[in-house]
Amino acid sequence: MQEKLKQAYGNYVEGDRFWDREKDIELLINKLDEGAHILLAAQRRMGKTSLMQEVKRQLSSRYLCLFVDLQKAASAEDAIVDISLALKPHNSLWNKTKDLFANALNKLTDTVEELNLGEMGIRLRAGLTSGNWSEKGDSIFSILAGIDKPVLLLIDEVPLMVNRILKGEDFRITRESRARVDQFMSWLRKNSLLHQGKVRIVLSGSIGFEPILRQAGLSATINNFQPFDLKPWDEEIAAGCLRALANEYGIHFKDKAEAVMAKRLGCCIPHHVQMFFSHVHDRCKRRGRMDFFPDEVNDIYENEMLGIRGHAELTHYEDRLKLVLGFEIYPLALEILTETAVTGCLGRQALAALQKEYEFAQSSAREAEEEILRVLEHDGYLKAGKGGYVFASHLLQDWWKKRYGLFHVPVLERGI
Ligand SMILES: Nc1ncnc2c1ncn2[C@@H]1O[C@H](COP(=O)(O)OP(=O)(O)OP(=O)(O)O)[C@@H](O)[C@H]1O
Ligand SMILES: [Mg+2]
Repeated sequence: MQEKLKQAYGNYVEGDRFWDREKDIELLINKLDEGAHILLAAQRRMGKTSLMQEVKRQLSSRYLCLFVDLQKAASAEDAIVDISLALKPHNSLWNKTKDLFANALNKLTDTVEELNLGEMGIRLRAGLTSGNWSEKGDSIFSILAGIDKPVLLLIDEVPLMVNRILKGEDFRITRESRARVDQFMSWLRKNSLLHQGKVRIVLSGSIGFEPILRQAGLSATINNFQPFDLKPWDEEIAAGCLRALANEYGIHFKDKAEAVMAKRLGCCIPHHVQMFFSHVHDRCKRRGRMDFFPDEVNDIYENEMLGIRGHAELTHYEDRLKLVLGFEIYPLALEILTETAVTGCLGRQALAALQKEYEFAQSSAREAEEEILRVLEHDGYLKAGKGGYVFASHLLQDWWKKRYGLFHVPVLERGI
């Protein structure tokens, strides 16, 4: 029987919408079974959250699996609330958790179960202060370690939260903010070591963790987490995914059009493969002809992938980059990316010339440039090529060029 795959909806995919990654999952599960803590890293939209959710699904009979999203958390207290709420579906654990928050909940014992998750979060948050969160957090870890199953704690968007604590609204790292990050990371580290073998932790996020911890001078706090890199699909796997999607939706790829699509992407980031398919699908449906040929690929790429939805995607990338780099040095990052998109390769000379055009209050232009390149390389925007930096993904490069390239004069051609 031909394999079929449903299109993604919502943020992540799992189960019958999840394609491939068998090897990654096997490797990851082996490491978890051995008791390892994992730092799951990859370029944006590679499927980190999906991988966590799929592993959670596959392990749920052997492990107690908890998924926590810290996207909105702005403090250690918020994180403890989010971790506590993840216990709510598990009755006996939830009862013990409620005991920890007895003061904040006691007046409401009768009605507590009627509160929705948001209201419950507010109640729990009211019971936490900068003086007691770590102790309550320790108790939650003890509760988890006390059950008769191994526990898998999957925490997404930790770097976003840490970044927020570190830089606040004005993107300034202060001694106090650094101390707050240190406290949180040390607390996590302590518990991960204390309960090793009982509780496994997987950390991930849409921005890289290492560059942020480095900014805080706290890189060592995660050195007991094993890095796990998620790579793009190769062209064959991407083409297989496209075929399975086509089978589900009655589209007929002719003359290996799906292979041409994968080749056109170059770097097959799962989200981009899905986007490409959804444009093909919409086109076929609209015109009422379900055959799709290789000579139609370019048109979809140029007009749909690089069209208005591509712009929306790019905005998402830019917002995240701004968060990591801060508004002061972000313009240099933008120019570095535009220069690379337009010229194809960013060499030493161009980098030196760009430095001369910027001045910052907080750091020298050289330091800022090094910092930016570290982030861009770590988060998979750029990679080191033969003569300098190049884009890791053609699509991202094309998006960037289309959005910013039109009036960009390459730095080495200026003033000539
Ligand atoms: N294994 C997969 N099979 C099919 N589609 C996938 C897979 N992994 C990712 N995708 C596609 O990519 C999209 C993004 O996935 P996901 O949110 O898991 O990525 P992410 O790496 O967590 O992204 P971000 O960097 O924004 O956090 C999904 O909605 C889906 O369309
Ligand atoms: Mg994610």
